[in-house]
Amino acid sequence: MTRPIILDCDPGHDDTIALILACASPSLAIKAVTTSAGNQTPEKTLNNALRILTLLGRSDIPVAGGALKPLMRELIIADNVHGETGLDGPTLPDPSFAPQTEHAVELMANILRQSEQPVTLVPTGPLTNIALLLATHRELIPKIQEIVLMGGGAETGNWSPAAEFNIYVDPEAAKLVFQSGIPITMCGLDVTHRAQIMDEDIERIRKIDNPIAGVVAELLDFFMIYHRDPKWGLEGAPLHDPCTIAWLLAPELFKAQTCWVGIETQGEYTQGMTVVDRYQLTNQPANATVLFDVDRQGFVDLLVERLHYFTTHSSAS
Ligand code: BDR
Ligand code: CA
Repeated sequence: MTRPIILDCDPGHDDTIALILACASPSLAIKAVTTSAGNQTPEKTLNNALRILTLLGRSDIPVAGGALKPLMRELIIADNVHGETGLDGPTLPDPSFAPQTEHAVELMANILRQSEQPVTLVPTGPLTNIALLLATHRELIPKIQEIVLMGGGAETGNWSPAAEFNIYVDPEAAKLVFQSGIPITMCGLDVTHRAQIMDEDIERIRKIDNPIAGVVAELLDFFMIYHRDPKWGLEGAPLHDPCTIAWLLAPELFKAQTCWVGIETQGEYTQGMTVVDRYQLTNQPANATVLFDVDRQGFVDLLVERLHYFTTHSSAS
């Protein structure tokens, strides 16, 4: 049985690789791609989603743009990581199809309403659209199987000492999502900094005999530049967003723990921090499954194995 999912993303190099991994996995049925403002402006992330799905020959997947800014704050973008277009590096086709005229929140709501099976939401950008969906369509919450998100971290931040980018950009939205009572899997920096892609892995991907793998290698070449700064202490580039899809495909690769996670919206130095109660120091009931570790080699092998899919499946199927 296939698992219906909706990807809510801000492509973004690693969002794109998550989307490509999902499109290469017949056990996942992508019901829609919605875009959030984050890595780049909302116009650019929407355009990037359309360009990638055009490349993949997947104009059958409905795409809709979401909120133009975070719930209560001004938008911060990560063009220092993802470049002027949000997807600098490879040459990508112009979109061959238009987005839906409805807002991302309404597209998600319609899909949830019509789906016989509960749908898994996979947000890999700021959580603005998901928060708006939960706030405006409470009747549809039972139609959400779970939320598997990239964001946060128990032990470190990457945008401030305390906070990871996606949660930092819209902490009020993240708070709403984490307090929703919906089962959440949090792929935070604890695990994504272990899901590193190394130079030799990129060469392995480049050698795969299809153009999609070639684009992934070029995306990774660009993504690597920002992460080569020795201050990060990384050997490669952390494949943040693809951890969500890898978790859905192969949970046995990961180490997880259920914890209470609170979102800091007020702190002087800690805005957007995910406060993870790993040692049950509060009396708060667990609200998330937090991923802490991954079998890095198994993760890379999964990505490589799935990218071979495009050698025999070059368009929508
Ligand atoms: C997250 O921020 C973005 O730059 C990436 O796409 C990822 O979702 C990592 O902090
Ligand atoms: Ca992202």
